[in-house]
Amino acid sequence: HKKIIITIDGWSSCGKSTLAKQLAKELNYVYIDSGAMYRAITLYFLRNHVDWTKHKAVEEALRKITLDFRYNEHSNQSEMYLNDENVEYVIRDLVVAEKVSDVAAVKEVRQFAVKQQQMMGEKKGIVMDGRDIGTVVFPKAALKIFMTADNAIRVERRFKELYDKNPNVTIDEVKNNLEMRDYIDSHRDISPLRQAEDAIVLDNTNLTMKQQLEIALRWAKEKI
Ligand code: C5P
Repeated sequence: HKKIIITIDGWSSCGKSTLAKQLAKELNYVYIDSGAMYRAITLYFLRNHVDWTKHKAVEEALRKITLDFRYNEHSNQSEMYLNDENVEYVIRDLVVAEKVSDVAAVKEVRQFAVKQQQMMGEKKGIVMDGRDIGTVVFPKAALKIFMTADNAIRVERRFKELYDKNPNVTIDEVKNNLEMRDYIDSHRDISPLRQAEDAIVLDNTNLTMKQQLEIALRWAKEKI
């Protein structure tokens, strides 16, 4: 069997990471959460009061950032580390989600992240999810999936996820955040979210996890 690169792009909270993780597990591939990298950079900028509208400040800050994914035996998944600190859980906070799309629109930030993402794919055998993975990071990937789901379903799913951690969160906050991120992500100048011409659409509004996985696995096996 040859190893391939599988990209999963799409709107916020469509279940990209859930599918990507399972697909990677079934194929014995490495799962890479590109959004976690933008979230970790955003967390660093917020904590250190970096003004991301200033190129110089961004460049200086990026020089001080080291990102890596480390496998955690207990959670059985790889987790995001920012300068040796496990930030896997804090980066999911709404405080980060509210700023991440602005930070991810900055040219230097994207160059920084994309370069590392491309290095992680050098040996193939990866499933990477994000917004520009099939269009910009790996334009030659063998399998590109573009995920969508009805808005109401996406809001509900993300709300449940956040509510478990913070019962103060409201449906409106979550809805507004998803709409805002989708708008900024699809309208930015550099690498906007869009479907690659050779991507296959997976609408999971009415699919169970198992059904989605079966479909994606079938597509993957056709390419391997
Ligand atoms: O995937 P997730 O929702 O965690 O991503 C958080 C944010 O990071 C997105 O809303 C988007 O602004 C940014 N992002 C990006 N390009 C990627 C992955 C994420 O711009 N490849």
